Amino acid sequence: ASIPKPYNEPMLNYEVGSVQRKLLKEACAKLRNETIEIPCIVGGEEIKTGDVQKQLICSDNKKVLCTFHQANAEVLQKAIDNSLAAKSKWEALPFEDRAAIFLKTADLLNTKYRYEILAATMLGQGKTVWQAEIDAAAETIDFLRFNPKYAEEIYSQQPPANTNGCWNRVEYRPLEGYVVAISPFNFTAIGANLPSSPALMGNVVLWKPASTAILSNYIVFKAFREAGLPDGVIQFLPGSGRLVGDILINNRNFAGLHFTGSTGVFNGIYQKTAANLSAGLYRGYPRIVGETGGKDFHFLHNSGEVDHFVFNTLRASFEYQGQKCSACSRAYIPASLWPTIKEKLVSNVKEMKQGQSDDFSVFVSAVIDKNSFNNIKSYIDHAKASADAEIIVGGGCDDSVGWFVEPTIIVAKDPHYKSMEEEIFGPVLTIYVYEDSKFEETLRLCDTTSPYALTGSIFAKCRYAVQTANQILKSAAGNFYINDKCTGAVVGQQPFGGARASGTNDKAGASLNLLRWVSARTIKENF
Ligand code: NAD
Ligand code: ALA
Repeated sequence: ASIPKPYNEPMLNYEVGSVQRKLLKEACAKLRNETIEIPCIVGGEEIKTGDVQKQLICSDNKKVLCTFHQANAEVLQKAIDNSLAAKSKWEALPFEDRAAIFLKTADLLNTKYRYEILAATMLGQGKTVWQAEIDAAAETIDFLRFNPKYAEEIYSQQPPANTNGCWNRVEYRPLEGYVVAISPFNFTAIGANLPSSPALMGNVVLWKPASTAILSNYIVFKAFREAGLPDGVIQFLPGSGRLVGDILINNRNFAGLHFTGSTGVFNGIYQKTAANLSAGLYRGYPRIVGETGGKDFHFLHNSGEVDHFVFNTLRASFEYQGQKCSACSRAYIPASLWPTIKEKLVSNVKEMKQGQSDDFSVFVSAVIDKNSFNNIKSYIDHAKASADAEIIVGGGCDDSVGWFVEPTIIVAKDPHYKSMEEEIFGPVLTIYVYEDSKFEETLRLCDTTSPYALTGSIFAKCRYAVQTANQILKSAAGNFYINDKCTGAVVGQQPFGGARASGTNDKAGASLNLLRWVSARTIKENF
């Protein structure tokens, strides 16, 4: 059997008067008028624990989008037991049958659920229509189509040599135990990818989605089930990260973690697994995959094309309110080009329309929640009060209707100013203006300023400058772009992930990632 050749899902056009626009507007209006109640789902059973939380509409934060029941200790234990009971039947199912389920999920999300999942992502995660389309439609579907192809490549890798009278082969077995998937709020696609990739490789998975992305993630889960995923293969466990993390990870059968989220939370889980391992709790070394934070950069050389740089920097910094792990949040600009660039950045930011995420004419909407709003505001307040920084545009914060933070640009006098180094995860870009003659020195500064290494870009026409940046920044970004913005990696085209404090760099959307979910057994047979 062979997996169908994957292709990237084309974006739909929601232009005025189109059927797509009408259907999506209807889906948004429907979600605004109803409040869905979401249970935990264990072994196919819907469990309402009574410990209920709300997901709010980010840009209209008095409105409840859905409610959900949080998993408690009893439900989590039941999920563990049920997963282990489902394991042997699932891993015995031929790979083609497992792949068919996820390929069918892609089809369902592309057809039956397309508008519903987009609307849930727009309202619940604060995405404009275009940002929701990139994520909840295109990237989600792409993961589900490309991963089976990558898996097929892994399964076909066999030793190239056999001596006479003997047959060598490698069997790619699922891990011994269960895998825990813990996903972030900012990409519905990551919600779909984290549980489905270990399951595709024959593992049973306990999935804890982010509380601020529950509705879109629940739609993904419904589509898995409707596509034929057997009960117990993936358990859907909304709830407190700490509780879910503690119970699922402090267990002998914990075999792997597929995590995306902040560096701080990942470090805590890593420490917990290390302590458990030292105490002899686990059967083996759990596979720990974590894609974490970023402090992603755009670096302009004085040979770079100014308008191209400005356009891409505005997109990378402010689309989805700077809440992509890949978002540009610091930029290095040569002094000779700064006056022109400053004027263009400021005038463009002043024209950005901000508003409700289901208003199709807005470019930026609200940030995800109150904690995030307060955190971003604290950086803006710091810049307002600091002698080392100047806000040249934006700086307004207003949570009276939604969690709105204006797109903000800070110029840092000190290259180590707080917001040049720390992840803010909001619409705040910090710029350092360097002397043209200090290009190499500033590249080294860029490399060492922050602990992260997720994405970064060099903008230059001069090939010596491109090559110098490529060399000096070789470890500064897991995804490095030349004359392109540092956001927008496409599944099947740019495998995604970073190193240093940005994660284990196991590259989502690539066979590298899927290899982490198998344990290889070599078999030598003499005839
Ligand atoms: P987060 O770390 O707050 O939450 C991520 C997940 O971890 C959520 O499901 C949360 O409930 C859970 N969690 C929280 N505390 C936990 C604990 N103690 N034990 C176990 N689980 C726990 O991150 P977020 O705010 O949802 O997402 C934003 C972060 O994710 C940013 O730092 C961003 O850079 C990062 N991110 C990275 C990538 C990447 O590919 N590198 C992609 C997307 C997001
Ligand atoms: N694919 C997303 C990006 O690169 C994470 O922006």
